[in-house]
Amino acid sequence: MKFFIDTANLDQIREANDLGILDGVTTNPSLMAKEGIKGTEAILKHYKDICDIVHAPVSAEVISTDFAGIVEEGKKLAAIDPNIVVKVPMIKEGIKAIKWFTDNGIKTNCTLVFSAGQAILAAKAGATYVSPFIGRIDDSSWDGVELIAQISHIYRAQGFETQILAASIRNALHIVRCAEVGADVCTCPLSSILGLLKHPLTDLGLAQFLADAKGMA
Ligand code: E4P
Repeated sequence: MKFFIDTANLDQIREANDLGILDGVTTNPSLMAKEGIKGTEAILKHYKDICDIVHAPVSAEVISTDFAGIVEEGKKLAAIDPNIVVKVPMIKEGIKAIKWFTDNGIKTNCTLVFSAGQAILAAKAGATYVSPFIGRIDDSSWDGVELIAQISHIYRAQGFETQILAASIRNALHIVRCAEVGADVCTCPLSSILGLLKHPLTDLGLAQFLADAKGMA
């Protein structure tokens, strides 16, 4: 399973990249706004800055909701860097645009996916990635990981090549469960990635080893 970081914060992207296990980045308009980025030029530059750090797929989301607008915006985003993946919402015009991008060699990430039916449509349109939001599903008292398992089953049965990108990750356990049920990619906040490191027995064991090593000095 690939690891993407789900942020537009350059320091966090650098920190995750320095771990050596980062395979890409996802952003969305809310994450970009959180960084205080304003204006088209600043937005395009910020995506370029991210691409220059990771040299791997970087999802940049369109804010248009009509076919012509999504295509126009997506073409501009794709021109920033060969690693840009155009992130398109799961709406009727979005599906048409994803098919257009697919036919024109532009990679896409179909976002705001909450059902298997939506994931089938995204795959039919040729999306490179489909992003089911598992944390938001859990928040609404359904099982987000169960949706990843269902989509994984359908995609394998049908031979769809769209990669399942588990999004809206809330904690390290989400990452482990997504790996279990066949997600191709997990996009996570830095805190969830670092959460994978944690185990009290590791801390206790290391403290003991270091104490015993002191005794040998
Ligand atoms: C990533 O592609 C999504 O935009 C993101 O994971 C959404 O996460 P949230 O539900 O924590 O906002």
